[in-house]
Amino acid sequence: MNIESIVRTRYTSKAYDPMRPLSAEQRQQLLDLLRFSPSSVNSQPWHFFIIESADAKARVKPAFGDLNGGKVQNAALTVIFATRTHIDEAHLNTLLTQEQQDGRFINDEVKASQDKGRRYFVNLNSGSERQQQEWMARQAYISLGFLLLGAATLGLNATPVEGFDPQLLDEILELKQQGYRSVVAATVGYSSEQDFNAGLPKSRLPQDSVITLL
Ligand SMILES: Cc1cc2nc3c(=O)[nH]c(=O)nc-3n(C[C@H](O)[C@H](O)[C@H](O)COP(=O)(O)O)c2cc1C
Repeated sequence: MNIESIVRTRYTSKAYDPMRPLSAEQRQQLLDLLRFSPSSVNSQPWHFFIIESADAKARVKPAFGDLNGGKVQNAALTVIFATRTHIDEAHLNTLLTQEQQDGRFINDEVKASQDKGRRYFVNLNSGSERQQQEWMARQAYISLGFLLLGAATLGLNATPVEGFDPQLLDEILELKQQGYRSVVAATVGYSSEQDFNAGLPKSRLPQDSVITLL
């Protein structure tokens, strides 16, 4: 399947088949899509909680209400995209150490420059706690986009989900205690025959009204 076909045929699943699990390979590819998503200055200010056991589904379902609870229940898995409560010194040092281990620095000068540049952009987006949270959330939404397109490429159905109670979800998963807060979610699996969205034509504004070629 080519990208042109994928973007025109992927759609938001409204109902999942609870009897169709993912293969181990599909599941791992989804996890890779999340982990390898790009983020500003490679800040990776996120953590992805994967809801897949019956117990975890039952626990988080109340936070998804009537609109999305059924999707969480029946989808093979649900990703909770969480961001850090704040970017601290320890996280900045962890990033730098990882980049060094991964062979990104040919010498200490390059390493120091990377550290300085990252701190500059983090500070630029940390004028207030809220500004930093919003900046981190934008990074999380990039990984949501990666997941949606990637899932479609794997022949899977998915649903981006903002329709949940983040405070309740954070309480259920004890995210604050772990230094995170939920931002957005996505369910992934195989649509069921009850998925009314499967047969609907896609609707988008015309190219000329959303894209300007200069
Ligand atoms: C950030 C975001 C949040 C969304 N939240 C929900 C949701 O809570 N429940 C739902 O059924 N669909 C949700 N949607 C799906 C949108 O309604 C859908 O993407 C849009 O109508 C375009 O349709 P398509 O995805 O089928 O192309 C969400 C989409 C995005 C991008």
